[in-house]
Amino acid sequence: MTRHLLEIDDLSKGELLEVLERCSETHPPKVLAGRGAALLFEKPSNRTRHSTEMAVVHLGGHPIYVRPEEVGLDVRETAEDVARTLGCYHAVIAARVFEHHKLERMAGAGGVPVVNLLSDQSHPLQAIADLLTIRAEFGAFAGRTLAWVGDYSNVARSLGLAASMVGIGLRFAAPDGYGPPPQELARFRELGAPQAVSTDDPKTAVDGVDVVSTDAWYAMGQEEEAVARRAAFADYTVDGALLAAAAPGVILLHCLPAHRGEEVSDEALEGPHSRVWPQARNRLAAARGAIEWLVTHSEPTGATEAMEGSP
Ligand code: CP
Repeated sequence: MTRHLLEIDDLSKGELLEVLERCSETHPPKVLAGRGAALLFEKPSNRTRHSTEMAVVHLGGHPIYVRPEEVGLDVRETAEDVARTLGCYHAVIAARVFEHHKLERMAGAGGVPVVNLLSDQSHPLQAIADLLTIRAEFGAFAGRTLAWVGDYSNVARSLGLAASMVGIGLRFAAPDGYGPPPQELARFRELGAPQAVSTDDPKTAVDGVDVVSTDAWYAMGQEEEAVARRAAFADYTVDGALLAAAAPGVILLHCLPAHRGEEVSDEALEGPHSRVWPQARNRLAAARGAIEWLVTHSEPTGATEAMEGSP
């Protein structure tokens, strides 16, 4: 069986904890020794590209970055054919795509683990890095509460799943129409955040919480909505005044890149509560732990297995 990581709940709760433990290994096993990893990007990236490339190096493998114009998923050839081909040469395929269904189709076709490096639905490696940052700060997850302030984005969804899977309480603050849909709130409650709530009042959401997280009000590909979104989110900037309503030891997370002065103030991003740089650093450990876990829990199938001389 081949394991994939397209969304954080592709892992069970126990498996997520195993991945977190692997992220903390000081001497990770060279599970990719002599093997390749294809890293496809349809969109720009700073943190994800570099952390994933270096994670592959730490695991003894050889990363090959595939430029957006080279990918041509469903343009030059189908997403399935891209994955089947890359599975002939690589032990893992990781991809950043506009449309999540392309990852699902690649996972169904490739025969090697497929890792989501961000899609329109989710960003699981970011969520793992966020959990590592929270654990480093507080030592444990139980009894902690996280408030997400701003757009209920792909990043928010994955963090909501990850947090609820480890028992962190959840609150969301967003203008009407930009918060989590009721069925996703229900999923968080069922997974392990029974009090998960959504409000349009940021102060209510952050009251006494341990973690405040936010992200850009518009994602790559939503730039044409920027004017409308800036107006809708004008009262949702995470700044010093908002953080003062949280617990005294609150930490601020932001997956970056930040739009300083929009979703987060300069003062907050550079202030004593900010953990955005440890969070960015943890992207490497997250990618390394997740890829190591996926590779060691997968049996090569399909094209890779059929290749004469495959390791
Ligand atoms: N947080 C994050 O995914 O950053 P990049 O878009 O730079 O990879």
